Parts: sequence; structure tokens; C-alpha cells
Amino acid sequence: MDITLSNILLVSFKNSQKKMTGSGKSPGVRRGCGLVGRRLRLQKRGDGAIVPCMQTACTKEELRALLAPVRGKQIVLVPTMGALHEGHASLLRRARALAGTEGCVVASVFLNPVQFDNAGDLATYPQTPEADLQTCRECGVDIVFMPTPEVMYCPDRSISLEETHLSTVLCGAKRPGHFAGVCLVVNKLFNLVQPTDAIFGKKDYQQLAILRRMVRDLDMPITLHGAEIVRGEDGLALSSRNVRLTPEHRAAAPVIRRSLLAAAELYASGASAEAVKAGVMTALSAVPGVVVDYVELVDAEHLHEVTDERRLALLAVAAFFGDVRLIDNIEITRNI
Ligand code: PAF
Repeated sequence: MDITLSNILLVSFKNSQKKMTGSGKSPGVRRGCGLVGRRLRLQKRGDGAIVPCMQTACTKEELRALLAPVRGKQIVLVPTMGALHEGHASLLRRARALAGTEGCVVASVFLNPVQFDNAGDLATYPQTPEADLQTCRECGVDIVFMPTPEVMYCPDRSISLEETHLSTVLCGAKRPGHFAGVCLVVNKLFNLVQPTDAIFGKKDYQQLAILRRMVRDLDMPITLHGAEIVRGEDGLALSSRNVRLTPEHRAAAPVIRRSLLAAAELYASGASAEAVKAGVMTALSAVPGVVVDYVELVDAEHLHEVTDERRLALLAVAAFFGDVRLIDNIEITRNI
């Protein structure tokens, strides 16, 4: 439901535009962005609150202007690379619930080139901006930040941000520079949005661990929330890359989840780490066209070798189904 905005809100919006540009015109706005000559409208959100319709910012200036009225309130950020699926939607809905009716939910949709170690993977990464905006709208997002790489990065940027312990294993060992790229873009998003909270999915378990370390080590006043993996009915973890699977590989891919569940039982009953990993390796390698990148069993916090079996462990896997790299994981414990 759209209701035309009250004069008061419209005036205050126009004033904020004037302050931003000195003229009332938004600088460097591009077609498709929320600030382009639009009358603000109100909508009734799922929770019953009457709020301004979702706004879209394509530049840092637009983002700052949209955030100015909500500074001091709870701001919950969900960073994404777009091609949103139900897993992202669950993060967005959680953000909405966390922010409540008073707070503000910001989603970023930015395919970050800096975190891709493989040009082919970047070139074939799905992009669905219109559908992404619709998903954000349906999930109650207030502001979507959709910059281009040129907006995000200066051509002569020369600062990098490297985590040097948690990034040396699992995907970090296989994808050089990947987590430095993730830390850089998330750091920039944190600086731009200045959220009180940010939500990341546990499918990228190592990413979440590294970002927690970044927030801790750099004293960032942000609470990070990890969200459970969302799966299809057949157990396959939802991923933007799943659409690139061949029908045969899509049908076979739930073997990942099945093998992790079987391995969790083995580990609980006391099997050695080697036996647990071998079970997953054998199950995956049996699928034609699948090449296992790694199967690792590590401590769930420091991501290195398990030295204390009373602690939570993580069994993590990455495998190529054809040229599509899928990852998944499961938290496991010994029955002791
Ligand atoms: O998990 C992702 O989609 C990306 O790594 C993130 C956190 C949005 C940074 O680009």
C-alpha cells in the first residue's frame, strides 16, 4: 500500500537535499536510484508501521543523505553481492526484526571485484538487480546501497587489509587475496553506513570468523550476528552460484549435506578426524565431474587444528561441481 507522503516529511526531505547540494539537486544521481526526482511515498510495512518506501542510493553521497535522519538509531546492515535468494531474504528479515519499527535496515548489493581471485568466477557471477530490489522491498529493507565498482573504489587505491591467521586455512588457502578483498569492502561499508549491527550467513563460516576478528582487533563498535544456513528441501545450502549448476550436478549436489551429516555422526561417536574427512571425500569424489577442493576438520573458533576435543569443531568442505565451486559446513562435537 502506498500513501502519498505528508507535506512535513516531503519538506524535510527537500531540505535535506538542499543541504546536501546547496541547490536542492542531488549530485551525480543516475537513473534508477531512489533519489532521482522522486516524490517520497509512504508504505505500510509487514509489521504494521507506516514508513517511507524503500530508498535506493547509488553513490556514497546519496547514502549519507538517506542515513542522516536515522543517525543515533539502531542501524542494521546486511552486506550482499546481489543475486539474492531465500538465504539472503532470511538475513534481511532478521535485520528487520532486530531493527524493529524504530531502527533502520540497510542492505548493500555490490558485486565486489576485489574479492574474486578468479576472473571467470566474477564474469559469470549472476546479477539480478531488479529482482534484488524487489526482495529487499518485500523483506522490509529501508535503504539499499547499490554502488558500481567505480563509485566504491578509487582507481589508485593503495590500502589493503589483511587478516593473517584465520585466513591462512580453508578457503583462504585456496583463494589468495579473497579475504583481504572481503575485509576491505566490509570495512568500507562499515565506514559508510556506520551500522550498530551487521548480519552475515554461516555458510561463509570462515568469512564470519574473520570479520568478527576484524571488528574485535580494530575496535569497531558493531555487533555481528551469524545466521544459520538456509537449505533447499533436499539439503543443498542456498547459494547464488547454484543457478550455474548443470541439471545433473544440481541433482547430485545434496550429497554434500548428506555426507556432512554422516560425518557429524561419525565424529560424535569417536571416529578419528582422518576417518571423518575420508567419509566426506569418498562420497563427493564418487560423483562424476566433482573435484574436491578441500575437506577440513578444524576448531570452530580459531579455524586451525582441533587440539581440544571438548570444544566445538567445524567440518568444512569446498568442491567443484563442474566449474561451479560450492562450499558448505557443519558444526560438530564429540559425545563426551
Ligand atoms: O558474503 C558475501 O556475499 C560477500 O563476501 C560480502 C560479505 C557481501 C562482501 O562482499
